[in-house]
Amino acid sequence: MKSSIRVAIAGVGNTASAFVQGLKYCEIEENPIGLAFKRIGPYEPRDIKVVAAFDVDSRKVGKDLGEAIFTPPNNAPKVVDVGKLGVIVRAGPLLDGVAEELRGSFIPVVEGSIEDVVRELESTNAHILINYLPTGAQRASEAYAEAALRSGAAFINAMPAVIATSKVWQSRFEEAKLPLAGDDVQNQLGATVLHKTIIRLLALRGVKIEGTYQLNVGGTPDFLNLMYRKGQKERTKTEAVKRMAEGMEFDAYISPVAYINFLGSRKIAHMFIEARGFANMPIRIRVDLEVYDPFNNAGVMIDIVRAVKLAMDRGIGGPLISLSAWAFKNPPVHAPPDVAYQWLVDFIEGRRER
Ligand SMILES: NC(=O)c1ccc[n+]([C@@H]2O[C@H](COP(=O)([O-])OP(=O)(O)OC[C@H]3O[C@@H](n4cnc5c(N)ncnc54)[C@H](O)[C@@H]3O)[C@@H](O)[C@H]2O)c1
Repeated sequence: MKSSIRVAIAGVGNTASAFVQGLKYCEIEENPIGLAFKRIGPYEPRDIKVVAAFDVDSRKVGKDLGEAIFTPPNNAPKVVDVGKLGVIVRAGPLLDGVAEELRGSFIPVVEGSIEDVVRELESTNAHILINYLPTGAQRASEAYAEAALRSGAAFINAMPAVIATSKVWQSRFEEAKLPLAGDDVQNQLGATVLHKTIIRLLALRGVKIEGTYQLNVGGTPDFLNLMYRKGQKERTKTEAVKRMAEGMEFDAYISPVAYINFLGSRKIAHMFIEARGFANMPIRIRVDLEVYDPFNNAGVMIDIVRAVKLAMDRGIGGPLISLSAWAFKNPPVHAPPDVAYQWLVDFIEGRRER
């Protein structure tokens, strides 16, 4: 018999807000718009329950999760009323979670320990821990991965820290027979997947790519953080795009360039590609994309969580190759979106082991 999927969240920011609201949306809508998978194994979106949450912002810690997701600096729009959820946000280990420049007035911090996280994960019987920490939080992300391992939970690394692509963490999760998915969620229709798809198309059509760039602006706290710590994000995005034209040498520059307060949770991406077609004829492509960033992430996460629980039910530990290739920017194994999609379908239907 299927059980519900008990999920814990580290980082109660905008993407967590969209995820929590998204679960409620799927509960009240008979046919929710914007999910790639209605069912994954036995699981529907409404089988997911958030049972624990951690943060280090003193305005969020101690609050009910239903209230904390709407607490500043979060600015994801409210699309549904989630009410009180009966989950109190607990303090977790701070480490490098918040950029030095943002500590104090932007984020007043409090601190817990790994042991606090382990206790909470065990007492709430969480199956999966999602890591939604800010970019640049490598050590704090490792602390949550450690807590997941100690409490017997699977780990989803939604951000660019190197966890699912680290050989060390891969083998620790494999030994513990716990699934590991990551790194850095690839949004439903984000700039990365769109840019990858165009590059892949050009490569398949024999077009010679000379150079490409992608510049992003937005008004979320995530963007503000990226102004101070964007290194890992630049790497995961650039690598994801370059991998779509394996063997072709070209310049690629992909970067978050500005935090623009009035954009709120909108993100705008400008993409430019310069290439040469048959007989060296020039081709130029310019694309503008505008999305609500946190919700662009949340539907994908609802799919990820269900696929991770399916792997748990099957006793699979270590990195989930097909799921990560489909749903993350920097997976252990890269694949074009159509190929990764087929791998994931094969995994769900039991034709691929991971
Ligand atoms: N569409 C998207 O928004 C998207 C897509 C892919 C990846 N991501 C990544 O997901 C992550 C989360 O994005 P977001 O928009 O929710 O960011 P956010 O800044 O809104 O939220 C991060 C939260 O983590 C908390 N935090 C910081 N250090 C912590 C610690 N040590 N322990 C617990 N909590 C801590 C912060 O207080 C904040 O509440 C980012 O790394 C982002 O790059 C986002």
